[in-house]
Amino acid sequence: MNATLERWTTRRAFILAVTGAAVGLGNIWRFPYITGENGGAAFLVLYIAFVLLLGLPVMMAEILVGRAGRRAPMQSLGYLAGQAGASRHWRWLGLFGAFTVFCILSFYSVVSGWSIEFLITAVNGDFVGRSAAEIGAGFDAFLADPRRLTFNHTLFLVMTMTVVAAGVAKGLERLNNLLMPLLYLLLVLLAIYAATTDGFVPALAWLFKPDLSVITPLVVMHAMGHAFFTLAVGACALMAYGAYMPEHQSLPRAAGAVAVLDVSVALLAGIAIFSVVFSQGMDPGEGPGLMFVTLPVAFAELPWGALWLSIFFLLLLLATWTSSINLAEPMVATLQGLGLGRGKASAVVGIAVWLLGLLSVLSFSNLAEWRPLFGMNVFELVTTIPTEVFLPVGGLLIACFAAWVMPQQESRAALGVSESGFLLWRTVVRWISIPLAAVVLAAGLL
Ligand code: TRP
Repeated sequence: MNATLERWTTRRAFILAVTGAAVGLGNIWRFPYITGENGGAAFLVLYIAFVLLLGLPVMMAEILVGRAGRRAPMQSLGYLAGQAGASRHWRWLGLFGAFTVFCILSFYSVVSGWSIEFLITAVNGDFVGRSAAEIGAGFDAFLADPRRLTFNHTLFLVMTMTVVAAGVAKGLERLNNLLMPLLYLLLVLLAIYAATTDGFVPALAWLFKPDLSVITPLVVMHAMGHAFFTLAVGACALMAYGAYMPEHQSLPRAAGAVAVLDVSVALLAGIAIFSVVFSQGMDPGEGPGLMFVTLPVAFAELPWGALWLSIFFLLLLLATWTSSINLAEPMVATLQGLGLGRGKASAVVGIAVWLLGLLSVLSFSNLAEWRPLFGMNVFELVTTIPTEVFLPVGGLLIACFAAWVMPQQESRAALGVSESGFLLWRTVVRWISIPLAAVVLAAGLL
């Protein structure tokens, strides 16, 4: 690793890369189903509060460590700790991040594979004229077929690791530039269409009229985990991108722009999906299948529905692609730090993730009842524990590192703001974000 890594060429490119990491399944698939399972508006309020008080300040902390270190996460942490006269053991935080994204990517790839299947089905026009019940039954039959799931999971992982092996700057920057706005536009159109259905008003009430009585320590913990997940914070994955951030760019502004985009994508998806749920009399707490069953129903009713649906799944696939490339980065960077070439490192990561992903695949058929821990099967485990425990723990430690351990003039320079801006950020991180995460974790786990 050397300290003169390639930089992203423009400010816009950096924001796009981080937005590409942030916007993905978390916004369009996970946000609606988890909001549905946790009571709607009250969950949304908590999630937005966590984005503001925790996700954003910690995102800045994470990126600034990468920017100050200009190395792969483990090396950045070790180098900066050394500079501060602190323990070099901080570098293990990079390894913990790599383990976290290892678990996350294993199911992320499987679920992105579902989008591949749905893209093909949509292109074939096979959703046209189907009822919600028929589409739901088709989805269940698909999940119960491990061979089809494995095929799509494999395809998606090969797509991801090929781009990762080719290196970050050469990645999907240009494609992203073009397609992210298109996805956004399509979601806006979908939300406008949703406004014409009779599920729209109940959907708005469900999303924006909080019933505070549903809040429990566990619901709060789910909301916190989701804030980290959707912003891609807590696993040193953005730290890896921070190493490529251009010299003169305000980090808070970039992070703020990403958070606004990220939350608004989730809200648009939520409005569209819950409008379908309520106009079709479906259950908002239906679980991980929610998006896959509702959106085909919604599009099927539009003129040229098959075309719109195909475009939607294509764009979704691209959004998940850029997210999974980011998920792979901490692992590949870690292996590179151990002396492996980028190509080899990508291959090793790809194979390991593929194997773990197989257990998620089988969680819908042969291994559905195999519950190795906490009464959960593998898919349930990898979709909850890494997100709700590992990401907040990682984020908390990264925040401690940036706000307490690093030489503070170094932190300030890497944040790229005025003295007063820096003190504001540091006060929030030290006295709000860190204690808040610690308390929520303790209350949720104990
Ligand atoms: N934020 C992405 C999504 O919402 C997922 C993701 C990408 C992620 N990179 C990450 C989650 C790093 C945690 C850590 O789909």
